[in-house]
Amino acid sequence: MIDLNEEYKQALKGKKFIDLFCGLGGFRLALESYGAECVFSSDIDNHVSKVYEKNFGANPLSDITKVDENEIPKHDILCAGFPCQAFSISGKQKGFEDTRGTLFREVVRIAKFHQPELLILENVKNLEKHDNGNTFKVIRENIENIGYNMYWKVLNASNYGVPQARERIYMICIRKDLDNHNYIFPKSTNQEVCVNDILITNGEERKYIINKPYKMNENNNQMKMFKVYNKPVRVGTVNKGGQGDRIYDPFGQAITLSAEGGGTGAKTGLYYINNEVRKLHPRECARLMGFPEYYQIDESVNQAQKQFGNSVVVNVLQYIVKSIIDEGSVNNG
Ligand SMILES: C[S@@+](CC[C@H](N)C(=O)[O-])C[C@H]1O[C@@H](n2cnc3c(N)ncnc32)[C@H](O)[C@@H]1O
Repeated sequence: MIDLNEEYKQALKGKKFIDLFCGLGGFRLALESYGAECVFSSDIDNHVSKVYEKNFGANPLSDITKVDENEIPKHDILCAGFPCQAFSISGKQKGFEDTRGTLFREVVRIAKFHQPELLILENVKNLEKHDNGNTFKVIRENIENIGYNMYWKVLNASNYGVPQARERIYMICIRKDLDNHNYIFPKSTNQEVCVNDILITNGEERKYIINKPYKMNENNNQMKMFKVYNKPVRVGTVNKGGQGDRIYDPFGQAITLSAEGGGTGAKTGLYYINNEVRKLHPRECARLMGFPEYYQIDESVNQAQKQFGNSVVVNVLQYIVKSIIDEGSVNNG
């Protein structure tokens, strides 16, 4: 998370938001950091809901398709990282035919009824290109038709102070009567961070060492001489080097944490650290997603890795919210 000054910490005081498809609460951490208040949250997954409750004191467990919009409290901001499996390259790309894809329609249903000032949506980068752009066109038309102007951009977390190559599309939808038409997405912060900066060193990390033969690339020595701030750097392989079996340099960026995926380094990737190859500790995953040190993580490593792979980078959202506040459409209402 980024540290905010006192003025920004109060900037959304009095604003209420809802946290749909809330997962671990990445949106909630970002919005609360500006003083906004969460009045409703929902997630269908029992495991992640327990983690959310531990951290925020409210259990979000519910299937949003079964929640009547009348039951949702009034709010100023709607947040949703709606499920993306149907749109991602690794999924089967069924888009709106897949019921998970149609969960976007729940966002439309709730926003149409409540007409909040602002919708902040996040999804996989591929959403824009899926089905030759048709899926995204339908999404934009739906948002327009219920009274919002939509601004969107693919941002990479590694440009916002977090050493993870994670490209996601962010959609900022401003209610038409409030829109000043000059919203711009935050610029790269150009911070020099790499995986090595977020590693833990208390011994717990040793549980994640892989005891398998591995092969380093012949030219990898040169990579140790400088840090790489804009991409992951591949330095070796286990097995045949298929996806999940590639080893990366901790002086580069982390690969995208993912909720699924196979191979030896499934979900976190493999890193060559102190002459050993290992996966990442859940706390390291938390840091790569911008979650604060006090955040309580699922005790199941498998669940924790899946949950962070599904989540949203808090820092990127914080910079987005800051840019919305600075632009003024929403905050001066
Ligand atoms: C991409 S994740 C979003 C994660 C979240 N932004 C975070 O910070 O962790 C999508 C979430 O939607 C939830 N979900 C899927 N179908 C749902 C439904 N019908 N009702 C409520 N939540 C649902 C999943 O359990 C998953 O946690």
